[in-house]
Amino acid sequence: MTEADLRTLLVELSASLFARGFSVGSAGNISARLEDGYLMTPTNSSLGRLDAGRLSKLDTNFAHIGGDKPSKEVFMHRAFYLARSDAGAVVHLHSTHATANACLADADSENPIPPLTPYFVMRVGRRMPVIPYYRPGDPAMEPAINAAARDARAVLLANHGPVVSGKTLIDAVYAAEELEEAARLALLLRGSQQRLLTPAQVDDLLSHYG
Ligand code: 13P
Repeated sequence: MTEADLRTLLVELSASLFARGFSVGSAGNISARLEDGYLMTPTNSSLGRLDAGRLSKLDTNFAHIGGDKPSKEVFMHRAFYLARSDAGAVVHLHSTHATANACLADADSENPIPPLTPYFVMRVGRRMPVIPYYRPGDPAMEPAINAAARDARAVLLANHGPVVSGKTLIDAVYAAEELEEAARLALLLRGSQQRLLTPAQVDDLLSHYG
């Protein structure tokens, strides 16, 4: 995909996420890997109203080389790209149900959202560690995210929201959407007796679609 096509796609997918309530105000940020660096949403921008020509461009060392000032969460995205050579894009949202799960005191810190449905497992994977709370924009969270991302495609930032990677921008967005739906189901089913996918069913899904 050319850089121009990726810019257009990033703006389209961001607007779609915003229109469906996956982000509000200026919350959330999205990046995608290019051959010569990265594209990233500018800081304080609304995902609903991005301008393809003003997206931030970073070089391969994550230095800002073009467009508007990048998200203050550059290091959050960098943590994923450096941990995962397969990551072609990273999506960070404050989507309501995933963030609600990130605020539960009794959440399992390795798997806060259980394997309820196949698509959650196929898109997000077996694990989604919870990263302890850090102030948004605090670079101190980078080592924790980097360590967790080596063995997970997504993490949940405590009291903040999800960060999801994917091989492509579309994959990362689809994974963020599946995560939000799974988080909603997990809350709907809280207190009910749940039939989770078994470890063998999870293995089967990942060997076919992982
Ligand atoms: P930016 O506007 O700097 O991207 O920050 C938004 C956000 O979601 C912080 O976590």
